[in-house]
Amino acid sequence: HALFRPIQEAAPPSPTKRRTKVSVVGTGNVGMAIAQTILTQNLVDDLALVDAKPDMLRGEMLDLQHAAAFLPHTRILASPDYSITAGSDICIITAGARQIPGETRLNLLHRNVALFKQIVPPVARHSPGALLLVVSNPVDVLTYIAWKLSGFPANRVIGSGTNLDSSRFRFLLADHLEVNAQDVQAYMVGEHGDSSVALWSSISVGGLPILSQLKGDEAAKEQEVLEKIRRAVVDSAYEVIRLKGYTSWAIGYSVASLARSLLRDQHRIHPVSLLAKGFYGIPDDREVFLSLPAQLGRGGVLGVANMQLTEEEAKRLRRSADTLWSLQYELEL
Ligand code: NAD
Ligand code: LAC
Repeated sequence: HALFRPIQEAAPPSPTKRRTKVSVVGTGNVGMAIAQTILTQNLVDDLALVDAKPDMLRGEMLDLQHAAAFLPHTRILASPDYSITAGSDICIITAGARQIPGETRLNLLHRNVALFKQIVPPVARHSPGALLLVVSNPVDVLTYIAWKLSGFPANRVIGSGTNLDSSRFRFLLADHLEVNAQDVQAYMVGEHGDSSVALWSSISVGGLPILSQLKGDEAAKEQEVLEKIRRAVVDSAYEVIRLKGYTSWAIGYSVASLARSLLRDQHRIHPVSLLAKGFYGIPDDREVFLSLPAQLGRGGVLGVANMQLTEEEAKRLRRSADTLWSLQYELEL
């Protein structure tokens, strides 16, 4: 309309300027927490939402669009049809069944594998160059499934993994040590779930290693407290699900931080679920996805950090790989 007139001799927009696009499949608690966190962070030009429930989906789209006056400019699209996701830089998959109180993540496997067979092929077809970021549970096995169903190279298929568990770990450690969680370095690796592994040797605050500073009794006492913290991390999701029915805000921030590192090519290290065969003694013939600290950038997983694990940590990690392998082994694709 007449509000603006083009200047004379204006060139058309440069064809080299691409719009950045992220799609979120599944707009339940988790998908919407991710979508809204991404919007507040000014990460994308286009945000596409897909869900199997068209009315709820349209309602969610409108509700986000109505925040336009308060947010950075982003075009928000939604449709149950996967063509809406075409040309995405990242496709985030959060669709699927979630745990009821007390249920394990692994219990969701068969229901969500069936859904992934409907979801991953059209996602991959419409965005053949995208990074796939899997969030649905059990996230490690479903990331493996997404890798197989998409035919994408392994560096472009990532599970949100223990990026969240590591934040819970840092929060509880920060509380215990009375410091800021952003100054705590600490990784949980392995399965996102019950067999996750705390890397005690990785814990430092402002560059100071925690355990190697302590001697004798003091070290043994601290080790006991740390073990309690590890158990609390593993129990975290169960507690939140018991109290509010689902988890959403922390996974929203966790995935938005992954999207930022990937889209902005930040080369930051995040513990995420990736094809782990050949790392830390996991045999080359075990095509399992589990979390290891990895450098992330525009190409997806750029490399896996070569950390010094203790023999005990490496053993626990291999046990976590065995748990996942035994589940994957029986799946038919
Ligand atoms: P939810 O029930 O609120 O949402 C799931 C959504 O998936 C629903 O809107 C549903 O309509 C949609 N859906 C189902 N089938 C679909 C299909 N074929 N195509 C498109 N959409 C479909 O559940 P939630 O709380 O958002 O949890 C979603 C998933 O995320 C669960 O598997 C949960 O366990 C997982 N989760 C993972 C993490 C993590 O750290 N990886 C954290 C929290 C939750
Ligand atoms: C989590 C989900 C349930 O919040 O995997 O850890």
